[in-house]
Amino acid sequence: MLKSNKKNPADNAAEPTEDDIIIEQSLRPSKLLEYIGQESVKQNLQILMDAAKGRGEYLEHLLLYGPPGLGKTTLAFIVAREMGVNIKITSGPAIERAGDLASLLTNLSQGDILFIDEIHRLNKVVEEVLYPAMEDGALDIVIGKGPGARSIRMELPKFTLIGATTRIGLISSPLRDRFGATYRLEYYTEDELKQIIHRSAKILNTQIDAAGGSELAKRSRFTPRIANRLLKRVRDFAQVSGHDTIKEEDARLALNMMEVDSLGLDKNDRRILEALIDKFHGGPVGLNTLAAATGEEEDTINDVHEPFLIRLGLLVRTPKGRQVTEAAYIHLEKKVMEKKQKTLL
Ligand SMILES: Nc1ncnc2c1ncn2[C@@H]1O[C@H](COP(=O)(O)OP(=O)(O)O)[C@@H](O)[C@H]1O
Ligand SMILES: [Mg+2]
Repeated sequence: MLKSNKKNPADNAAEPTEDDIIIEQSLRPSKLLEYIGQESVKQNLQILMDAAKGRGEYLEHLLLYGPPGLGKTTLAFIVAREMGVNIKITSGPAIERAGDLASLLTNLSQGDILFIDEIHRLNKVVEEVLYPAMEDGALDIVIGKGPGARSIRMELPKFTLIGATTRIGLISSPLRDRFGATYRLEYYTEDELKQIIHRSAKILNTQIDAAGGSELAKRSRFTPRIANRLLKRVRDFAQVSGHDTIKEEDARLALNMMEVDSLGLDKNDRRILEALIDKFHGGPVGLNTLAAATGEEEDTINDVHEPFLIRLGLLVRTPKGRQVTEAAYIHLEKKVMEKKQKTLL
């Protein structure tokens, strides 16, 4: 599950870097009560868990989806803790062969949670093994080859699968149908991010005042992972400036230095918008063309940058491709060309 930071992503990228992984462990809330925001998901989950406990049953399979850094992995750990069971972590790309999954499943203990991150990246063969495991708690093993081959069924311990994905659209419908509940995590509000920042500051033994917290929250891409990362960087900045408490000015200066702008856009977000404006008159343009023009990977544009830019109202997806809005021109201080002005959204 731990991804290495091969590309050295920008400070604002939502994928975890190696640094994040270390501090995230200490900042991760371990109880549902400490998990800030996502109220309806929490309420639903609480009911589901109470009901399962009340019946003395294990929890049904859960699917969590939403952009990176919103708390999917955290939630899976919390569920395990609240249900008082063990959790085993793996990811779609790590399960290459049917046998890999078979060995994971047979090694589970009764009631365990199996967490599969990036579950949209499971291959078909592995998915086929997962279906009977999820549905009937059984593993179908083929013995022998050719006409003499036969399949035997092996009972598995009762387990709960928690899948996480940034791309719900890439999950096949037979797999999706086998989850008892599906939860979509939403971007956080500024107020929720402030609470997260102040909670993290306390754990990190750092002082930050209300205005400093607001400034950070505003520029955190609505994402707790980014908020925590920026907090850590701003803390370093304040410390070398000889300030005990992070104030608005410290936050502002540090973030400007990191090229995180007033809306929280990083260099890559701006590069995407600028390419659209400068090379394609604002769009619409297809994802692959945009990826080629910016040197970004399609998946990164699709999963990380676009949802954020759309949420800010700087970009829209149209049937013909991606298009910037007038707000993007204004934010980047670009001139709107006469003939394009009419078609702008
Ligand atoms: N609701 C929340 N409340 C407090 N902190 C959170 C919350 N959601 C996420 N975080 C913080 O953000 C970090 C990233 O969350 P994570 O669960 O790894 O995201 P995802 O798995 O969706 O990419 C966690 O380490 C945690 O510190
Ligand atoms: Mg995760």
